[in-house]
Amino acid sequence: MLAVRDLKVRYGAVEAVRGLDLSLARGQLLALLGANGAGKTSTLAAIAGLVPAAGRIEIAGETAGGLPPETLARRGVALVPEGRRLFAGLTVAENLTLGGAVHTPPAERRRRVAAMEERFPVLAERRHQKAGLLSGGEQQMLALARALMAGPRLLLLDEPSLGLAPQMVERVFDIVAGLKAEGLTILLVEQNVPMSLAIADQAVVLANGRAALSGPAAEVAASDHVRRAYLAA
Ligand SMILES: Nc1ncnc2c1ncn2[C@@H]1O[C@H](COP(=O)(O)OP(=O)(O)OP(=O)(O)O)[C@@H](O)[C@H]1O
Ligand SMILES: [Mg+2]
Repeated sequence: MLAVRDLKVRYGAVEAVRGLDLSLARGQLLALLGANGAGKTSTLAAIAGLVPAAGRIEIAGETAGGLPPETLARRGVALVPEGRRLFAGLTVAENLTLGGAVHTPPAERRRRVAAMEERFPVLAERRHQKAGLLSGGEQQMLALARALMAGPRLLLLDEPSLGLAPQMVERVFDIVAGLKAEGLTILLVEQNVPMSLAIADQAVVLANGRAALSGPAAEVAASDHVRRAYLAA
């Protein structure tokens, strides 16, 4: 579903990503881990077409590098950005409707909104409330639902559990695991290493824009580096 070769992202003099390879098979979940500033968000931004990047990006076997975000969205790429980026002044329903489904015929859009409200009942309860008034966890549900409105085949998640209470963190990981079980292909950026490795098939640990470690999630979890740095074992 996704193949990234020698990806490089730079902001002026800052080299955020310095030659990264990723591959993600259909229906699998790849955890992209690493410390603050390692280049995780920059990697997702490059895949979603939001920042210029060097190297090759293929999605479902087709060249995707250099395409604008709208084209990538139409090809099935959806990003849940770091910090959620909801339209705080718009209602829950309006946020959902604007979620990449603006080109979808109204009947289908209504069907998808109903499906999201069924999956996330709190969004039905809060349909007419402004998104900015939701709790952090509810906002994360809305951000996820908004991305799913587009019916993506590749879901990019940027730290969906960040800043949430432990119970909500578990709920978010349950939802992500559920989406994977439904067959969605997911690239998950997280700082919650143990929970990410528990639901991932593959994992890459980024350090200074490069893969310090990569492989099957179980192998990465068992590595000395990850056990010492992230799992306190
Ligand atoms: N728009 C930008 N302009 C300049 N430098 C940037 C920009 N965005 C990111 N950087 C720098 O690029 C590097 C990688 O940042 P990035 O946001 O990709 O890291 P990250 O792994 O997502 O970190 P975090 O865990 O804190 O979200 C950092 O050194 C950061 O300061
Ligand atoms: Mg980030």
